[in-house]
Amino acid sequence: MATQSQTQTKPFHLEDNVQTNLESDLALEMLRVVESAAIASAREMGTGDRKKADLVATETMRHVMDTVPMRGTIVIGEGERDEAPMLYIGEKVGRTPPDGEVYPEVDIAVDPLEGTNLCATGSPGSICVLAASEHGGLLHAPDCYMEKIVVGPACKGSVDLDAPTAVNLRMIAKALDRDVEDLVVIVLDRPRHQKLIAEIRAAGALIKLIGDGDLAPGIAAAVSGTSVHAVMGTGGAPEGVITAAAMRCLNGYMVGRLTGYTDEQRERMTQYGISDVHKTYTADELAPGKNIIFAATGVTEGALMQGVRFFGDGVRTSSLIMKMASRKIRFVESIHIEPDKEYSIRF
Ligand code: FBP
Repeated sequence: MATQSQTQTKPFHLEDNVQTNLESDLALEMLRVVESAAIASAREMGTGDRKKADLVATETMRHVMDTVPMRGTIVIGEGERDEAPMLYIGEKVGRTPPDGEVYPEVDIAVDPLEGTNLCATGSPGSICVLAASEHGGLLHAPDCYMEKIVVGPACKGSVDLDAPTAVNLRMIAKALDRDVEDLVVIVLDRPRHQKLIAEIRAAGALIKLIGDGDLAPGIAAAVSGTSVHAVMGTGGAPEGVITAAAMRCLNGYMVGRLTGYTDEQRERMTQYGISDVHKTYTADELAPGKNIIFAATGVTEGALMQGVRFFGDGVRTSSLIMKMASRKIRFVESIHIEPDKEYSIRF
C-alpha cells in the first residue's frame, strides 16, 4: 500500500512536459542565432557607431537564420522591404530542405540589436533578441510606437492604460503586498514622458530613467528579485510585441496600445489584420501563439544577462531562452572557442 507521502509526491520527469516538434530543436537553433548576433555586435561596443553595430547584428542574424531548418517569415523586423536590405517584414528565412523534407512554418519577430545607442556607447542594457511562433502567433505591428505597462505575474489584470497612473501604482503595490513608495518603475527618459514621470513622482514610487532599451526591463519586471516592478510609457511597437512574447513565457502581464503611426502605417495595419487601431492589447493578444519561443543574448551587461566577454581564445555569452508550451526558462552561459586556437576554459 502506498504511504501518504508516496501518493502526494509526483515525481518530476522531463518527459512530463510534452514538447512539440516546433519547439524542441528550434529553441536551441534560435539560441545560436542570438548568440552569434550578440558576439558580432559586441565587437562594435563603444565605437560610437550605432548603425554599424545594428548592421553587423542584422547581417549575422540573417546569415545564421539561413542555417536553421525552418520555413521562417519575418513578421517584425528591420522595416519594410524598401527600407531594409535584410530581415525586412515578409522576408523568408531558413535553410533549404533536402528533397522530400518539409520544415516547420515559423513566424519570427526580431530586434537584432535592441539598444543600438547602448551598444555604441558601451552602456548597459543592449541585447540581441527574437521571438518565434507558429504561423499567426505574433501580431504584425508596424514600426510605430506603443503605450505600454509591463508588470509581473502577481499583477495580472491590475493595470489599465486608461486608469490614472496613481491608481495603477496602487494596484501594483497591492498585488505585490508592498507600499507604492517601495515600487521601482522603469521609464524611458524622453520629453514625451514628462507628465508620466511627474505622476509617478507625485504618487511616491521610485523611478529608474533609462536612455534606451525598454524590452529588457520589461522582462525584468516579470522576474521577481530584479528590483523592477513595472515598465511604463511609450516605446517601440516591435519591442512591445517581443516583450509580449516574453510575458507569455514568464506568465507576466502587459497592456499595450499602438500610437504615433503615420497614415501609411495605419493603412498597412489593415493589411496586417489590425482592424481597430485604438485597441488595447494584452500580451495574450499581442503574442497569441501556442508555441512561442523567446531568445535573447546580452551584448552589454544587464540585470538578467551579462554582456559578451572576449577572452582571447574564445568568447562567453549569457542568454535567456524560453519555450512557452513546455514551460522552460533557461539561462544559458556559453563558451564559444575560436577554431584552431589553444584554449583553457575559465569560469
Ligand atoms: P533601437 O535599438 O532601435 O535604438 O531602439 C531602442 C529603443 O530605446 C527601444 O528600446 C524603445 O522601445 C524605443 O527605442 C524608443 O524609441 P525612441 O528612441 O524613438 O523614443
